[in-house]
Amino acid sequence: MIVTVGDVAAGGHCVARVDGEVYFVRHALPGERVRIEITERKKRFAFADAVEVLEASPDRVEPPCRFAGPSKCGGCDFQHATPESQRRLKAKVLFDQLTRIGGIDPARLDGVEVEALAWPEGALGWRTRMQYAVGPDGRPGLRAHKSHDLIHIDKCAIATERIRESEVLGKHWDGMGAVGVVDTDDEQLAVYTQLRRTARPHHKSGPKLVHQQVGSNEFEIGFDGFWQVHPAAASTFLECALDFLQPREGESAWDLYAGAGAFAAGLAEAVGETGRVVAVENAPASRTAANLARWKNAGAIDGDVAAIAPDLGSVDLVVLDPPRSGAGPEVVVALGEARPRAICYIACDAGALARDASDLAIEGYELKRLRAFDAFPMTQHFETIALFEPVD
Ligand SMILES: C[S@@+](CC[C@H](N)C(=O)[O-])C[C@H]1O[C@@H](n2cnc3c(N)ncnc32)[C@H](O)[C@@H]1O
Repeated sequence: MIVTVGDVAAGGHCVARVDGEVYFVRHALPGERVRIEITERKKRFAFADAVEVLEASPDRVEPPCRFAGPSKCGGCDFQHATPESQRRLKAKVLFDQLTRIGGIDPARLDGVEVEALAWPEGALGWRTRMQYAVGPDGRPGLRAHKSHDLIHIDKCAIATERIRESEVLGKHWDGMGAVGVVDTDDEQLAVYTQLRRTARPHHKSGPKLVHQQVGSNEFEIGFDGFWQVHPAAASTFLECALDFLQPREGESAWDLYAGAGAFAAGLAEAVGETGRVVAVENAPASRTAANLARWKNAGAIDGDVAAIAPDLGSVDLVVLDPPRSGAGPEVVVALGEARPRAICYIACDAGALARDASDLAIEGYELKRLRAFDAFPMTQHFETIALFEPVD
């Protein structure tokens, strides 16, 4: 079928409407006329791939990776768009999610942008963590979109140069379900395997504890611990969070979903010796307490944020950096009771941010400032940093 493609939607698709039917089309851009092939039918809509472009958008480019495209590697969503236009698409998704789901006044989001992160290779070569699936023959690769099909690649264009040049993809990993590689700030490669995608990772080679840096502060985490994937992300996000929160000497702060504690460390320095920072994190591989030991005014609690936050009392400042699912109503209610003067929400999923923003409004908090960053170029993903303060 031939369709004219409309606006971008969340998930890396653009929407096309034909005779009352709705199609979510991958590999297309707004305004293009394309031939589509249905990939999945649902009751009220269908997913499709643009398999031929009849009228191209001025934003279209030849994908820099030869493995990107319909029925090929599912890792990237926007290789066929210029990096500038990818950021415009993401800004539109952010605007739509926050206004439609989050109930945010569109006037507040006027001119919202997704900013590029500084990186020598631009939109390529940024990914410091890669996990490949392994086929029954032991060969690693990447999955096609929403499929078990394994696409064998010789290198991934968005992986860092050190990962691209590593031997992980050239080897056989017999009996394994996945193999992963981590490129650290001290220029080491850690390699791990998993029996299945969801199984516990087993260290194979390189350092077991990896070093990551934010400014002059170093963090040591397990090879399987969380760290921002883009090399410029951790320092940019900390700078933005401190700018939004404007911590004052002697204030108290929480770093919820703290990971290694990069935000907690920055807050501890900003609130000084008379201030106090509590980090909450549930993954031992983050080594939060060990990483924060240098800061006498900071401590870590090991456990679930939803269980711990209600018992923490009141606080001046909060950094909230949940996983893709968001913080959820329990945590938001706990924040409402703690009455911080400012909450800085770091979101890797705009939909989850929008849902939590709507719950924060019930607790009397409104959006005051917002920045978004293209921390995952070539993919549909981006990071949003939002400042919430009590309604005036
Ligand atoms: C998006 S990461 C942010 C980490 C850190 N703020 C950073 O920037 O490096 C989310 C973190 O929350 C942790 N986490 C996930 N669910 C949690 C929960 N229910 N309670 C506590 N920590 C959780 C994960 O282990 C991960 O380290």
